[in-house]
Amino acid sequence: MLNFDPEKVKTPAFVVDKGLLIKNLEVLEKVKKETGAKILLALKGFAMFSLAPVISKYLNGTCASSPNEARLGREEFKGEVHSYAAAFSDTDILKIAKYSDHIIFNSFYQKDKFLDKAREINKSLSFGIRINPEESVGSIPIYDPSAPGSRLGVRFENFDENNLSNIEGLHFHCLCEQNVHPFIVVLRAFEEKFGKYLGKMKWMNFGGGHHITRKDYDVELLCKTINDFKKRYDLEVYLEPGEAVALNTGFMVSTVLDVIKGSDMKIAVLDTSAAAHMPDVMEMPYRPFAIDSDFPYEKKHTYRLAGLSCLAGDVIGEYSFDSELKPGSKIVFTDMAHYTMVKTNTFNGINLPDINIYDPQTDKIELIREFGYEDFKSRLS
Ligand SMILES: Cc1ncc(COP(=O)(O)O)c(C=O)c1O
Repeated sequence: MLNFDPEKVKTPAFVVDKGLLIKNLEVLEKVKKETGAKILLALKGFAMFSLAPVISKYLNGTCASSPNEARLGREEFKGEVHSYAAAFSDTDILKIAKYSDHIIFNSFYQKDKFLDKAREINKSLSFGIRINPEESVGSIPIYDPSAPGSRLGVRFENFDENNLSNIEGLHFHCLCEQNVHPFIVVLRAFEEKFGKYLGKMKWMNFGGGHHITRKDYDVELLCKTINDFKKRYDLEVYLEPGEAVALNTGFMVSTVLDVIKGSDMKIAVLDTSAAAHMPDVMEMPYRPFAIDSDFPYEKKHTYRLAGLSCLAGDVIGEYSFDSELKPGSKIVFTDMAHYTMVKTNTFNGINLPDINIYDPQTDKIELIREFGYEDFKSRLS
């Protein structure tokens, strides 16, 4: 839902609609209230700290994958910071210990190597182990931590039940953009293998990938599943969604710079780039929705929308529109808050997109951040 006038936006730019974000946060708050579970924002998915004051009102804190994210969580967002990485280095663990409340290890080797060192830095840390329940419910292998050959989480075969001293929690993250049913399937598999260890634990972290704020998500069933789990095991429950926090709240506003006659169809070259500004479009890959567009040839004018970088494959997708595109026409891509801003780069020296917040209460678009030469240069030497 586009509530602002894209003509008022200097492009290329992200615009996050604060009102839509609050609607998502209200859904998450309902889950918190009905279950007593704590919900953390996964910074890897959405780390727009200018919105931290709003997000912190609803959520319990953040989850981090690196010392930098942990520090951002501690300094900009209120609440708890939970950190996990597939492996910590000798230097990372010292920094991450300083900023975290929970540290989750991906192996018993890492636990043995780092638990005492981390505790020396921060006495109040609580430690956990990530589990791989080996119940694959994902359809895209690169987004499926339970896919065969995965390095993410300790498999039952490698789980050392005699090495649980100082371990207060277990964690799994197995979902990607999924409704509650796959979660129930994973939870059943997890409990069959690891349920017997939960009596020794204080908390259980069910990771992210829960698409809680999607229209068809069964929030009631999620709440029932968590409440039933809590009846079976007396534990503090955590969820750490990234995508569900920012789902459908952000827009990428771009401008057509040129229209070229390709051998098969017209190509509109935009002032944005899939490679630099929306890398998930190519990595996942997926075709973002553009406002007032349809699939090719469904509407009168069909175009391939492409980026301004030198990469031949810098293509966003093929779309049709009622009106002709011309240099200066605005194209607005939807659902561009999560896994976009956190993934942008300055390939070809292309400027990063501006970051804006739209506030429906004032009907104003506030320019939060512009980027320039120094941002490009400071990543190089
Ligand atoms: C350990 C962990 N927690 C949370 C998340 C957030 O997942 P999502 O943004 O899909 O909710 C991820 C995503 O990769 C993750 O790896």
